[in-house]
Formats: sequence, C-alpha cells, structure tokens
Amino acid sequence: MSTSDTEVANLDLLDPTALADPYPVFASLRAHDPVHWNARYKSWFITSFDDVTAALKDPRFTSNRITPYRENVLSRPGTDPLLREAFGVLDDWMVFKDPPDHTRLRRLLSRAFTPRSVSRMRPAIEAIAAELLDRAVEHGDNRIDLISDYAYPLTSSVIAEMLGVPREDRDRFKDWSDQISGLVFGSLGDDERHRRGARGMKELTTYLGELVADHEKSPSDDLISMLISARENDDSLSHDEVIATGVLLLFAGHETTTNLIGNGILALLDHPEELRTVDPSDPARVNGLVDELLRYDGPAKSVVRLVTEDMVWRDKQMRAGERVFLFLSSANRDPSAFENPDTFDASRRPGRQLGFSAGLHYCLGAPLARLETSIAVPTAINRLSGLAPDPDDSVSWAPTLLTRGMTRCPVRYGLTSGSTH
Ligand code: HEM
Repeated sequence: MSTSDTEVANLDLLDPTALADPYPVFASLRAHDPVHWNARYKSWFITSFDDVTAALKDPRFTSNRITPYRENVLSRPGTDPLLREAFGVLDDWMVFKDPPDHTRLRRLLSRAFTPRSVSRMRPAIEAIAAELLDRAVEHGDNRIDLISDYAYPLTSSVIAEMLGVPREDRDRFKDWSDQISGLVFGSLGDDERHRRGARGMKELTTYLGELVADHEKSPSDDLISMLISARENDDSLSHDEVIATGVLLLFAGHETTTNLIGNGILALLDHPEELRTVDPSDPARVNGLVDELLRYDGPAKSVVRLVTEDMVWRDKQMRAGERVFLFLSSANRDPSAFENPDTFDASRRPGRQLGFSAGLHYCLGAPLARLETSIAVPTAINRLSGLAPDPDDSVSWAPTLLTRGMTRCPVRYGLTSGSTH
C-alpha cells in the first residue's frame, strides 16, 4: 500500500474534524481511491461525480436496503413486537423500493404532490417564518439557535400544515419524527433506540390512522385527502399505504429541509455578497442560489444502495449484499464536474448538482424544499440584521454518514426595529 492508500484507508468520516468539514476527506478519496472499500464501515464509498451518477442509475444497486436490515433486527432474541409493525410501515416507503413497486407508488404520490399543492403553500411558509423570527426577536437576548428555534419548527409546521394536521398536534409530530429516525437511520445493536423508534412509529401511525379515517369520510383539500383520492388507471393507495406515505413525507421532508436552511444560512454568512447579488423577485436567480446551496453544502451527504449480484464495477470486485454509500456531497465538489468546486458561486448555471439525488428516486419533494429554502434563508438574514455565528458558542454537526446537518447552530444578531409584517 502506498502512503496515500494507507491514509485513505484510515480516514474516518465521523471523526470530529471530518464532521465539521468532510470536503478534504472527500477530495482525498476522489483522488486516490474513488471506489473505496472501507473496512471500518464494511461498505463501499463511491465519491466521484461520474461514478455516483452512474451508480444511481444502475439497477444492480438496489434501493431495498430495508429487508436485510429488518431481518437482522427481527432475528435478535426478545424482539419487541412493535418493531415488526414499524418495519411493516417502512416496507411501504417508495424510497426503499425498486421497480415495478416503486413505479406504482411514485406515480400515485405524484398525483397528490403536485406543483399546485406546493406553490399554494407560499403564504403559509412566509407567515410561519415571520412568526418564528418575531418570537425569537421578542425573546430579546439577541441570540437564537437557528436549528431548534427556526429551521426545525418551520419545516415541521409546513409539512404538518400540508398534510392537514391540526396546529395543536404539531409538537407531538416532532417528537415522533425524532424517535423514528433512530430506526430509519439504522442503529444496529442499539436496542433502546429501536424500541423508542418503534413506539414513536406506533403512536404516529395510530394518530395518522384516525386522521386518514376522518378524511375518508369527509375529504378536504389537504395532502392526506389528495393521497386518498389519487388514482392511476384503476389503482389507488390502500388505507395503510396512505398512512405509510404520510409518515414518509413527514420524515423525508422535515430534517433534510431543516439542514438545507441551516447549512444555507451558514454558507451565506461566510459569503454575504452572494445573497446581495440575488434579486428575490427573480425566480431564476433564486432557484440558482438554492441550487448552489445544495451543491456547496447540501444536507444529503450520501444515499445507500446494496449490491444485488457479484460483479466487477470500476475494476473493483463487489459481492452481492455489500453496502454502498454514494456520496452526493463529494460528487457535488468534484472538480471534473464543477469549475472551482470549493468556491460558493450563486451565479453558477443550475441543474447539474446531485443534492436531490438523480434517477428514479430523484427527490419528489424538491419543489417544496426549494420553496421553503428560498423563503426561509433570505427572510432570516434580512430580519436578523448583523446575523453571525455566536462567538461564545459553537455549532455541532450530526454524527452520521448520511446527513450533513447541524444539531445546533447558535447565532447572534443586532437589534432590529419593527416587525416583519
Ligand atoms: C433540502 C431538502 C431535501 C433534500 C436534500 C432531499 C433529498 C432527497 C434525496 C437525496 C432523495 C433520494 C433518496 C435515494 O435515492 O435513496 C430523496 C427522495 C425523496 N424525498 Fe427528498 N429531500 C429533501 C426534501 C424533501 C421534502 C420537503 C419532501 C416531501 C415533503 C421529500 C420527499 C422525498 C420523497 C417522497 C423521496 C422518495 C422518492 C423516491 O423514492 O422516488 N424530500 N430526497
């Protein structure tokens, strides 16, 4: 092994330095071993733009990573019966399916999750952002946590509002979503996290089950009603599939967008001139800004696939069942795909970055995430004048290979007068 190979083999993406800034590690992987077997995580790490794009479109990498994980968890002695039920819900998530099951669910969900259902959320998103910032300013001590005081409550309120969940129940949604993440983001060997995840899933699906039953009797114009009535030829979602899809939307749409808003504000605090160059009334420029935020420091660090058959892929012998991390964040900083990839440039031509993935599973919520971010990021920066990272405190990054997001982001701002509305 050469020195650089040894260095690459020893790289740990969960090391605190790499969590704070994974991009030098990705650069090293791309340069020395772009299709890398990582012994520590017993997984392949794929990091170049071309390889990540190719793998996302290669059916020999399956999205069904839930079946082996479920079998592993459920084969453990003394498994909580609620865990079996929780995995039953995850089984109905399109993100874990391949065609033809994926095609069917995606078509039905696309009938409900339409551009119209997203764009009409604009006034609600603007009102929620303004309300949260007013509350933060009234709080009065010129400091907030951008994640827990702003981005997180904003995105959870938006998806809850879209689904048709009454306001008074939204805090419970957040708790359930937190609990379920212990299950979805895999924590093999941590039985307590699994138990909590299964309990959260039970409570959430019971709650949604009642909401769906109410909407079946008296439909309204929210997303749950649209999921119930979505039709493709003679097909529709079953009662259980509507519930599972509600959980998926809550889950998929919440933490990711929170992290894009957090990472986006942080990136713009470092590059204030970039925000000034964007005219908020020009949709193309706003879209370009959000695209660059996704490319520069997007929230989906990686997506996972499993190898379906023994094969040689880019000269590497892969075995059926092996896990593969496709690092979107690394692909988005690949110099072979982007000029000066480590430079933040809001005027870059949008469209190439992989922050929402590519291929069959391209993020279905991308228009909603774009809308939320395009409102939330400039609104916070404009409202909280003099916004800057809190010099007496520090941000902390979530310790995971899957997401790039902060668990806390303490900031300070100067006093502003008046309200946002
Ligand atoms: C910045 C915010 C977001 C990011 C970075 C993001 C990223 C992603 C990525 C990378 C995937 C592909 C997963 C894979 O290939 O395995 C995905 C899929 C998906 N996302 Fe998002 N997402 C965001 C927001 C949302 C929102 C707001 C919603 C809906 C409320 C949503 C719903 C979905 C759904 C339903 C899928 C599954 C699509 C499929 O399997 O065909 N996402 N997202």
